[in-house]
Amino acid sequence: MVKVNDNYLKLPGSYLFSTVGRKQREYQAAHPQAKVIRLSIGDVTQPLAPAILDALHKAVDEMGNAETFRGYAPDLGYEFLRNVIAEQDYKAKGCDISADEIFVSDGAKSDSANIQEIFSLDNKIAVGDPVYPVYVDSNAMAGRTGSYDKNTETWSNVIYMPCTAANHFAPEIPKETPDLIYLCFPNNPTGATVSKTQLQEWVDYANKVGAVIIYDAAYEAYISEPDVPHSIYECEGARTCAIELRSFSKNAGFTGVRLGFTVVPKDLKAEGVALHGLWARRHGTKYNGAPYIIQRAGEAVYSPEGRDQLKKQVAYYMNNAKYIYDGLKEAGYTVSGGVNAPYIWLETPNGMTSWEFFDYLLEHANVVGTPGSGFGPSGEHYFRLTAFGSYENTVEAVDRIKAMKI
Ligand code: MLT
Repeated sequence: MVKVNDNYLKLPGSYLFSTVGRKQREYQAAHPQAKVIRLSIGDVTQPLAPAILDALHKAVDEMGNAETFRGYAPDLGYEFLRNVIAEQDYKAKGCDISADEIFVSDGAKSDSANIQEIFSLDNKIAVGDPVYPVYVDSNAMAGRTGSYDKNTETWSNVIYMPCTAANHFAPEIPKETPDLIYLCFPNNPTGATVSKTQLQEWVDYANKVGAVIIYDAAYEAYISEPDVPHSIYECEGARTCAIELRSFSKNAGFTGVRLGFTVVPKDLKAEGVALHGLWARRHGTKYNGAPYIIQRAGEAVYSPEGRDQLKKQVAYYMNNAKYIYDGLKEAGYTVSGGVNAPYIWLETPNGMTSWEFFDYLLEHANVVGTPGSGFGPSGEHYFRLTAFGSYENTVEAVDRIKAMKI
């Protein structure tokens, strides 16, 4: 008789953002008059930039013409896109990454979930706590995380690296040696960053102990301060220990369009095996490539017009971030993030749990955020707001929060 993958049965509850969405829908159904503002999931609200729209239209027309029609995309992605990524995201910034080390995909969420497949189940993962839930859940589905303890909300075979106010929400090198280390900077959910020197310490450590760093740089476009690295390959030695994930969702508004890429340097080896070859094998077997039309839209992100328009889009969201940050501070909240990232991380007032504050905020301000505890036990008593709303909604939400009694 067929058996299920019982690792799925060990997973607690549903995916965090599904739970948040369900609670919002339930509230709205019970209070149809309420104008609920969603500052929860990091989903963009601004329309696609004109340069991207033009590229999409042009590519659609090409698909309707036998001369320019394209079928399956090349395994790693079209060269026109990989070349421009290698040039502008890496070579122009002094990072030694070539186009054939870039794998185009439908986004960083899928890549961050899938990358663990090329590693043995015997590997032990280390994650920041709080953390983007996909890293842990995907390893749990694969059977790498041991058993789940409902009381501590932790897995027995995961190394948690607490990110707290005491360490400025940046993980410290753990006592126990991990095999796979997930790092995300600028960080989701806390909005924290690390300096180049701090990141170099991680690279040196990974090379020393033979670990691999999975570096999620989905929010790099939001970096505003000079000493914050945009890529892990700015660090010496990263080619032998790091995989980098990038997304077009947040820098170009592609959450509904879907495009991302993963960099696997050819020098990166485990047990003498090049991980580039393993990921290429997986990519070729399980993935048919991001659509031609979307890859052309991705190329437009790097055009002079595209870059200019997207700079303004990022500035629009960062203006929201500042409004949230300043408004909450003024209202007496303890706040961080929002400077190099579109996320604001606040301490819940009066010792409320994260979910208590979620309910309170929904009830009293009709604003939806994301409970910090959903990202891990160290996120308890914290709460995340996103800057990806419209300016008008952001202002209204902050004004309602300021007016709310706490
Ligand atoms: C988030 O809200 O954390 C992000 O939207 C999740 C994602 O990008 O998948």
